[in-house]
Amino acid sequence: MIVANWKMNKGIVQSQQFAEELKAYAEKHKVVNADIVICPPYTSLDVVNKKISGSAIKLGAQNLFYETSGAFTGEVSAGMLKSCGCEYVILGHSERRKHFNETNAIVNKKVLKALDEGLKPIVCIGENLQEHDDKLTEPVIEEQLTKSLAHVSTEDIGNITIAYEPIWAIGTGKNATPHQAESVHNFLRKKIKKMYNENVSKNIRIIYGGSISPDNAKELFASPSVNGGLVGGASLEVESFVKIINSSL
Ligand code: 13P
Repeated sequence: MIVANWKMNKGIVQSQQFAEELKAYAEKHKVVNADIVICPPYTSLDVVNKKISGSAIKLGAQNLFYETSGAFTGEVSAGMLKSCGCEYVILGHSERRKHFNETNAIVNKKVLKALDEGLKPIVCIGENLQEHDDKLTEPVIEEQLTKSLAHVSTEDIGNITIAYEPIWAIGTGKNATPHQAESVHNFLRKKIKKMYNENVSKNIRIIYGGSISPDNAKELFASPSVNGGLVGGASLEVESFVKIINSSL
């Protein structure tokens, strides 16, 4: 699974152009072995949806609000995302946790709402540089995992993807090594086995994010425990994004 997180980039025209080019690529190369998900800003969801319709490319949003409707100025509901054609939604990204004070409890409300409305959450967790240096990665991500997924049933967990995004690797050009990513993903699977069962822990998708580039993607995706990538900067150009998709096939 390769997910493009455009963050706060691209207007309508650029978004349409990207979607057209990527669709043409996916059709030409018959990309069927990977789930490709594009997560544009809210303002481009509808136009990207129209451009990718009929292709294997899927649409995701970068956030939602957990209420159904009402007086929540500036917010966007799960139902609105569905109406734009979204299948996925990124939740709990570290940039939302940092700049918008999203706690694990808020992320959990969003996860439960997304599942309720039939959206598939891509739940982001990851430690910051200080925590990494202090060797606190495991307790930090364990807390994020258990609290963000509180009350998610065994039935619903199959619709969740976990994205391990070490904060020190986001936008820094400093990616986790394949060994680091693998060992964290294995740790997460062990915890998920305890929370659910062996089957869930084997089948849940855990993707890596943080400075993925055409140069390091193949190595990062080589581990059986790494089921794909959440790509920021390198997903903004079709050429580099396609190279990353190719590395996963
Ligand atoms: P970069 O790929 O730009 O490091 O961003 C990663 C990310 O935050 C994806 O959600």
